[in-house]
Amino acid sequence: MDQQQRKILVTSALPYANGSIHVGHMVEHIQSDIWIRALRLRGHECHFVCADDAHGTPIMVNARKRGITPEQLITESRAEHEADLDDFGVHYDFYHTTHSPENQELVEDIFAGMQQRGLVEVREIEQYYDEEAGMFLPDRFIKGQCPRCKTPDQYGDACENCMATYSPTDLIEPYSTVSGSKPVLRTSDHYFVKLSARQEFLEEWVARGHLQDEVVNKLNEWFEGGLQDWDISRDSPYFGFNIPGEENKFFYVWVDAPIGYMASFRCLCREKGIDFDQFWRPGNDTELYHFIGKDIVYFHTLFWPTMLEAAGYRLPTSVFVHGFLTVDGKKMSKSRGTFIMARTYLDHLAPDYLRYYFASKLGSGLSDIDLNLEDFVARVNSDLVGKVVNIASRCAGFIKKHFDGRLAPTLPADDPLTAEFAGAADSIAQQLEAREYNRAVRQIMALADQANRYIDEHKPWQMIKQPELRDQVHQVCSLGINLFRCLMVYLKPIIPFTAARAEEFLNAGELRWSDVQAPLLDHAINPYQPLMVRIDDKQVSAIIEASRDTLAEAGGEADSQADAVAANPIADEITIDDFARVDLRVGRIIEADFVEGADKLLRLRVDIGIDQRQVFAGIKAAYDPSTLINRKVVLVANLAPRKMRFGESQGMVLAAGPGGKDIFLLDLDDGAEPGMRVT
Ligand code: 2FM
Ligand code: ZN
Repeated sequence: MDQQQRKILVTSALPYANGSIHVGHMVEHIQSDIWIRALRLRGHECHFVCADDAHGTPIMVNARKRGITPEQLITESRAEHEADLDDFGVHYDFYHTTHSPENQELVEDIFAGMQQRGLVEVREIEQYYDEEAGMFLPDRFIKGQCPRCKTPDQYGDACENCMATYSPTDLIEPYSTVSGSKPVLRTSDHYFVKLSARQEFLEEWVARGHLQDEVVNKLNEWFEGGLQDWDISRDSPYFGFNIPGEENKFFYVWVDAPIGYMASFRCLCREKGIDFDQFWRPGNDTELYHFIGKDIVYFHTLFWPTMLEAAGYRLPTSVFVHGFLTVDGKKMSKSRGTFIMARTYLDHLAPDYLRYYFASKLGSGLSDIDLNLEDFVARVNSDLVGKVVNIASRCAGFIKKHFDGRLAPTLPADDPLTAEFAGAADSIAQQLEAREYNRAVRQIMALADQANRYIDEHKPWQMIKQPELRDQVHQVCSLGINLFRCLMVYLKPIIPFTAARAEEFLNAGELRWSDVQAPLLDHAINPYQPLMVRIDDKQVSAIIEASRDTLAEAGGEADSQADAVAANPIADEITIDDFARVDLRVGRIIEADFVEGADKLLRLRVDIGIDQRQVFAGIKAAYDPSTLINRKVVLVANLAPRKMRFGESQGMVLAAGPGGKDIFLLDLDDGAEPGMRVT
């Protein structure tokens, strides 16, 4: 170990219990898992906890919809989440649920602390209530027309069309997404935490320099605007913990979620005899880190320190914030098949591939990372299979065949690499600890290149033909195996499954960080079994296919709309919300042309007020282009653009009919103006 042993507690954000874990979540779990594995490998005492985030309205509503209790729902998803994480090699020392007695006890304790400090206040507020469902409605369960741009079906807090933010009471013609009914305003007493009273304390904490610069900048913006007090209660019915002394009031899920970190750790302490207070009370020589996504910074750097401090607990050593995941440069999408669930990935590919790819992309900042599927295959195949594993497979054959599976007692006298590989340990350790995994990976791969070059230059396959060079072959290949061993030490936090297979092959117990300083000499290795195979493009295509939501895709073929309609029976039922996602606009055709080489298509240019779109429509047999100019049509305006042989199609015009000559564009009334939403 290169320094004094540290005592470290690490958490990842708690996955919501109302959905499956997807590859976007895995960025964080893999990031924190690599970090803790790296620190452990260097001999530090590390604890790693997580839990399911089990409370809140969505979980209650989903359980109702499925006709089960919330308890049943959260039990199911906890088992699913644990299995997904485990199969990705993310092994939490304790994986709990926030719906637990340990959590309730801590929540009450922290709430009491805040009350004693005079930080809690009860205020009457007015809120929308769904009389049919018998519940107050969170902002996200109310929709209506945007008060600014009048777009229908916008959520109660913000408009997705014009980005305005507002309160649900500003919505025009609001309706509840739970029952569809019109909500009414009701008053109710709510508990508030006076965050405004803690601004100075928070500013000081933030100024201490332990958060990322980008996070500090964001926090300073919030400080400048002045902190708002925080509404921490919800009225019945709600799936959560009762506020002490209140029958019909519950703690808002974001109160008990972070406290779930403590509750999970408390269980671990009980199981392993660890001193809980040493990690959670101030004045101890321990470290506490939370890994989170950039969307939940507010909760972890403002609310969470306020709660902890008020109840006499320590504050986090740091909060490590990462960006989001895009796939092929875009937000994950069900229709494109890039909304990939952890389990779908695991059904087709080994976890180490994705762990490696994420590591090769992750830095310490808040930038989003992209899973470019082509690059993913190329990089894994070239780096891990082509460079790293290749070293072992090239050398192992000689050792087995000519030297009875035993490494040489000495390395080549002019060995230029052992010292360099060992010397990289500190810098790689530092990069891993600084969460600069992409840099660490680059350095490790540069070493792998050197090892391969060394073998290429020494050509053991030629030397072995000359009996007098036999010892040299033995030394060169033994060096190759030892260099491979160093690379596996460095990669062990990133690709633990492959490292475990390498340990078996090297036959020298578990790889430790210090192993890079002492080569294996005169040592019997095990027969080589392939440590990793190449990814086949077909496996990635299978993941995309399995992830593709055909519903989201229905009718998406711009050049065969009519065929698609004719051939398809009524599709599976969708909700009004699903339908509301389709943005239909009145458009005016301003250009219409034949497309060279296309049998069915016309190229249209459609003015939809806000902009103009090029659309390829399968209506050639039915319409003479010249008759279409100025005709008003209905255009699906938020359809993802499609690259076609003839150019990009930027939407779809609606038509009905079996196809061929019998296809009819929808006729619109004269009053319809380009840009109007069609409802
Ligand atoms: O954003 C989320 O997915 C939350 N479930 C994270 C909670 S983290 C912690 F505070 F509990
Ligand atoms: Zn709007």
